[in-house]
Amino acid sequence: MATTAAPALRFTRVPHPAPATAQVRAEVLANPGFGTKFSDHMVSIEWTEAEGWHKAEILPYGPIALDPAAAVLHYAQEIFEGLKAYRLADGGIALFRPEANAARFNASARRLAMAEIPEDLFVQAVEQLVLTDADWFPTVEGGSLYLRPFMFASEAFLGVRPAKAYRFMVIASPAGNYFKSGSPAVSIWVSDYTRAAPGGTGAAKCGGNYAASLVPTAEAFARGHDQVLFLDAAEHKWIEELGGMNLFFAFDDGSILTPPLSGTILPGITRESLIALAREEGLTVREERYSLDQWRADAASGKLVETFACGTAAVVTPVGKVADHNGEFVIGSGGPGQLTQKLRQRLVSIQRGEAEDTHGWVRKIA
Ligand code: PLP
Ligand code: COI
Repeated sequence: MATTAAPALRFTRVPHPAPATAQVRAEVLANPGFGTKFSDHMVSIEWTEAEGWHKAEILPYGPIALDPAAAVLHYAQEIFEGLKAYRLADGGIALFRPEANAARFNASARRLAMAEIPEDLFVQAVEQLVLTDADWFPTVEGGSLYLRPFMFASEAFLGVRPAKAYRFMVIASPAGNYFKSGSPAVSIWVSDYTRAAPGGTGAAKCGGNYAASLVPTAEAFARGHDQVLFLDAAEHKWIEELGGMNLFFAFDDGSILTPPLSGTILPGITRESLIALAREEGLTVREERYSLDQWRADAASGKLVETFACGTAAVVTPVGKVADHNGEFVIGSGGPGQLTQKLRQRLVSIQRGEAEDTHGWVRKIA
C-alpha cells in the first residue's frame, strides 16, 4: 500500500503544559536505564485512505485514545523502529543512519500490509522530536536519546483485512545501558521455541515477533541468562539471532561470520555497519550459516575466539556464555574479546562524531 509523494506537511505544535522540572529531568538523565522514562513530547501523524498522511503534530507526551475495535488491538498490525540520537562533543546533535531505519520501516509496512510513510517524513518526524526535546540527553557515559518510531492500525473494524487508517508516532527515551546486569559479557540461552519461519514475518520489525519471543525470553531470564537465542525453524540447527540483536562470530584466522539475511532474521543496521567497518579493518566477513553444534565445537577447540551481539539498543555486546539443555560452554575467556572491543569502539566513535564518518552515516541535526 504505497503512498504518494511526500506531502508538504507542517507540524502543529502543542507544547507540554507541565514539562518535567529541571530537577526531575536531571535525576532521570543521571540514571536513565533503558526504556522506562520518556521525554516531554511525542510526534503523531495520521493516515487514511482518503487523505493520505495528514495531521502531523508534536504533542505533550501522554496517553492516547483508541477505539476498542482498532484493528491493532485484534490483529496486531503494528511495526516499529529503534534508533539513537547522540549529543556530540561540540554540543551538536546527530542521528545515526535514520534513512536506513525509514527504509526498513517501510519494508516492515509492506510485509504487514500497512501504509508506507515517505522516508523524508519519517526522518523529519524523528528530527522534530529530538530538537523539541533536546534537553533530554543523558548525562551518563555512553548515554543517548533512544527514538522509537512506530505505527499501528487505528481503524475500528473487526473484519480480517488490511486497515484503512494508521497512526504513526515517535517517542523518545533517554537511554543508558540496555543490559542491567552491568556484566562485561552476556549469557545466552538457546531456545526450543522458534522465532521466525521461512515466509513468515521474521525480517519485519513488527510487535508480533516480539510478543512471540516473550515466553522464550522469560525462560532465559528464569534460567539466569540475559538473552535468548533462536535457531532456524526447519532444522533447529542453524543460528539465527537473539531476541533483539544480531550475532557475529570471530575466528582465530582473523575472519568473522554472521548469519545471512535469509528472510527470517531482522536486517540490523548495526549488523550492516559492522560488516562495512570490519572489512575496512581488513577482516574477511562471511555471511554464512553457522550451526549450534559447530559453534560449540569451535569454542572448545579454540577456533572460535569471540562472539558478540549487536543492535541499536545493545550497541556491541560480548557474549560470554551459552547454554542449552546439553549444558553450557564459554566463549574465549568469557569476557569481552579484543576484536569485539575494537569494532565497538570504531562504531561508537563514528556515531558520536569522534571519528571521521567516511560513509555518510551521521546526520547532524543541530
Ligand atoms: N534483531 C532483532 C530481532 C532486533 O530487535 C534488533 C534491534 O533492532 C536487531 C536485530 C538489531 O537491529 P539494529 O542494528 O538495526 O538495531
Ligand atoms: C533496538 O535495538 O532498537 C531494539 O529494538 C531491540 C529491543 C529493544 C527490542
